Amino acid sequence: MTHAMIQTEPCQSDKFSFIDRALAERQQAQRWRSLHPVTPVDAVHVLKNHQTLLNFSANDYLGLSKHPALVEAAQHYTVRYGTGSTASRLVAGTYDIHQQLEEQLAIACGREAALIFNSGFQANFSILGSLLNSQSWVLCDRQVHNSLLQGILASQARFIRYAHNDLNHLEKLLRQADPSRRIVIVTETVFSMDGRSQ
Ligand SMILES: Cc1ncc(COP(=O)(O)O)c(C=O)c1O
Repeated sequence: MTHAMIQTEPCQSDKFSFIDRALAERQQAQRWRSLHPVTPVDAVHVLKNHQTLLNFSANDYLGLSKHPALVEAAQHYTVRYGTGSTASRLVAGTYDIHQQLEEQLAIACGREAALIFNSGFQANFSILGSLLNSQSWVLCDRQVHNSLLQGILASQARFIRYAHNDLNHLEKLLRQADPSRRIVIVTETVFSMDGRSQ
């Protein structure tokens, strides 16, 4: 008896060729991103390709990540609590120090409560995803950070982008918005895309 071999699945190399195609498309559209390693030197300098550079790209404006008191405190807490919280905060990863920090942040900011997130991206994504729903209307500045856009998209809210910092355009859209919906305006203070507030 002879058996004809029917290939129902693409072979291994074809199976992943969509990745190569997507990467080539990105490169062509000049949207290719790559990682550039740097070595921190001190609070404000980094070493890159044997050159010492002043770092204007990070969020560590005050160099607090290298402040001796904070480094010492981090060492102390690492010895006491370990190098990670070992679980999601909802499971067993909320430690007493997390709550103490949140209480102190709330007092410092004059708010009822505070919640810390692992990153700015996570905060923006999670908060917008929770405050909005598919019935909401979002008016958002054209130049907001991608994390805010992703939060809006995840919420399935209807959203319209207004021209960057153009309050006349925003007002026009607001007048057109359905007042029975939850309307949210999303903007930034210092815009991270170009570092300006205007
Ligand atoms: C306005 C804004 N939102 C979110 C982020 C993302 O923050 P993180 O790098 O902490 O995830 C950035 C990063 O620069 C940002 O500028």
